[in-house]
Amino acid sequence: MTGMLLTPIDLGPITVKNRVVSTAHGAFLDFYRPGIDPAQYVAYQERRARGGCGLIILQAMLVHPTSQTMGQWMWDRDDILPKFRLMADRIHAHGAKVFVQLAHYGAQFRSDGNADILPLWGFSPMLSPSGWEPSHEMTGAEVDEVLEGYERTAAIALEAGLDGVEIHAAHGYLVQQSFSPWGNHRNDQWSDPLRFMFEVMARVRAVAGPERAVGLRISADDFLNWSAGGLGADGLRAVAAEACGTGHLDYLNHSAGARSAHYARSIANYFGEPGRFIPLARGLRAISSGVPVIAVGKILTPAHAEAVLTAGEADLVAMTRAQIADPDLVAKYVAGSADRIRPCVGANTGCVDRMSESLPITCFHNPEVGRELTHAELLPARRSRRVLVVGAGPAGLKATEVAARRGHQVTVVEREAQPGGRLRWVCELGAPATMFESITWILRELDLLGVEVTCGVEVDEQFLRNMAPDVVVLGTGATGSGIDVDSDGSVPVLTEDEAMATKVTGRQVLVVDLLGYQQQAYVAEYLAAGGASVTVATPFPQVGQNVGFTHIRGHLERLYGWGADLRTSTVLTGITDGVAQLRHLYSRKTDLVPVDLVVAGTMAQANTALYEVADSVADEVFLVGDAVAPRTALHAFREGDDAGRRI
Ligand SMILES: Cc1cc2nc3c(=O)[nH]c(=O)nc-3n(C[C@H](O)[C@H](O)[C@H](O)COP(=O)(O)O)c2cc1C
Ligand code: SF4
Repeated sequence: MTGMLLTPIDLGPITVKNRVVSTAHGAFLDFYRPGIDPAQYVAYQERRARGGCGLIILQAMLVHPTSQTMGQWMWDRDDILPKFRLMADRIHAHGAKVFVQLAHYGAQFRSDGNADILPLWGFSPMLSPSGWEPSHEMTGAEVDEVLEGYERTAAIALEAGLDGVEIHAAHGYLVQQSFSPWGNHRNDQWSDPLRFMFEVMARVRAVAGPERAVGLRISADDFLNWSAGGLGADGLRAVAAEACGTGHLDYLNHSAGARSAHYARSIANYFGEPGRFIPLARGLRAISSGVPVIAVGKILTPAHAEAVLTAGEADLVAMTRAQIADPDLVAKYVAGSADRIRPCVGANTGCVDRMSESLPITCFHNPEVGRELTHAELLPARRSRRVLVVGAGPAGLKATEVAARRGHQVTVVEREAQPGGRLRWVCELGAPATMFESITWILRELDLLGVEVTCGVEVDEQFLRNMAPDVVVLGTGATGSGIDVDSDGSVPVLTEDEAMATKVTGRQVLVVDLLGYQQQAYVAEYLAAGGASVTVATPFPQVGQNVGFTHIRGHLERLYGWGADLRTSTVLTGITDGVAQLRHLYSRKTDLVPVDLVVAGTMAQANTALYEVADSVADEVFLVGDAVAPRTALHAFREGDDAGRRI
């Protein structure tokens, strides 16, 4: 039984077949850069159109070369026209509509994003809050040049057959700078806060004419105090009301924030509550003069989307990460199998955390993402083989799922009492249970595929010889290794695995973090939350050095909140009589810290003991995940998928 989600809606002259939107997101699959083959980005977006998405808004098209930050490129007219035509044809073939976002980042980011190294252009000189680079105050002629850029980009996109354009006035970029006290303190004609945005809208509308759609994306809250030049939700709603009142807009989209650091809130990880910004969407809809509003922010299930629409909070819903994780979200809903949608678990490690480093998009537990050109189809196996998967962590389970879907007869055996591998204990340490839905989703699918997961059984040589499978997949994980420290043995020094297996606690615990990943941060948090006085020592300049930007702040706030003592650029040099010697790498000073337990977060060793016997028994053996090299669950899901496809 479906409600409004699958009903069409008119965005001005453009009828969208349903209310599901994939909003603009930097996928970094390369498209705008002249000379680059657009096939992968086209395949990525086409996959979402094929899965039933109604409206796809493409990654931002820059309106001027001074916005080429973060590895983004300025287009070339002759180059981009055929790319857009291809994109439009492929998306239209599935009945979806396609718009493109038009952006200038203004005084945000850094100018060294690519070889041109042009200065950042803003309305007023300021230090970029995301790149810490001073920006240039545009002259009147330069403002005109940027305005012409909006016209030119809109004209090209629409000439190529896209259905509409979206003016990016959110995230603290140029348009938001123009109307915000923190971004514009000019005294000339551009001091009027709404003038630039109105001018952009009028010019883009003139280019689009009555046949194509024009939208605006605004931050519905800038997360800034008035004293910091913020407008707040009320001020921004007033700006949105003025914009809607011009009559130029066919829809209003929103996000939140005024800095790239605010992405961690507007594109929240698994700690963020689903639908947290719905009240902001509701507020916009109240002032939009009938202009349809897109609600945004962790709307993850069709049921939630239906509730938002039915309650009249918005007219459309962004389900952006939800459709990164499962491009078939709409198709499954239409087919009555919403319970089989692969959930977006809010890991952010495959998508937005990679965007912050200008890396191509993927997904934590959907390894197809970013490789649609080669991975969108799962080909049936040429002959069904007997496959033994050893280990039911992310890598083993993914290999099982993919191999079983392809028609192999798969047996999966896990040594521990429950499946999930290291991901299970990371969730037990404090990562929200939502993360574990990546495992429970596969388990449900395996159930439907008729594959049983046998736990509590250790596979050994005899097991392998008795079973004599055609193929063995070793997802046997890795075992933590200790640290080489000069210790008198007065204090136990445990690996993370040992500490977590016994759920050890202590009064004064030293966590030595030689890796800087989330696992080490969660171990420290777990101990601190359990009441220990925790010191974290890491040789890196920051605790959590390799943690994604949408996670790091949360880890640090929690650790400091529990009173942890975080020592950076610091190494453990010895332990004597219950006292750890911590040496700062650069001052070379040594601090003495009393401890009753040391937990070492060091590189684990891959468990490959079964490889040789498996190789002698089976035709083919695959190592996957930590058994290849101990890294993260994202790597494990990916390698499991690869193995499942290669069998
Ligand atoms: C990888 C990634 C890149 C993004 N890049 C942009 C962008 O370039 N422009 C933009 O307006 N929003 C961008 N966003 C924000 C999304 O459009 C959307 O607002 C956000 O993902 C929240 O919606 P969701 O919870 O449905 O994913 C990005 C999001 C992700 C995940
Ligand atoms: S990486 Fe995580 S947050 Fe991003 S789409 Fe995949 S599951 Fe969702």
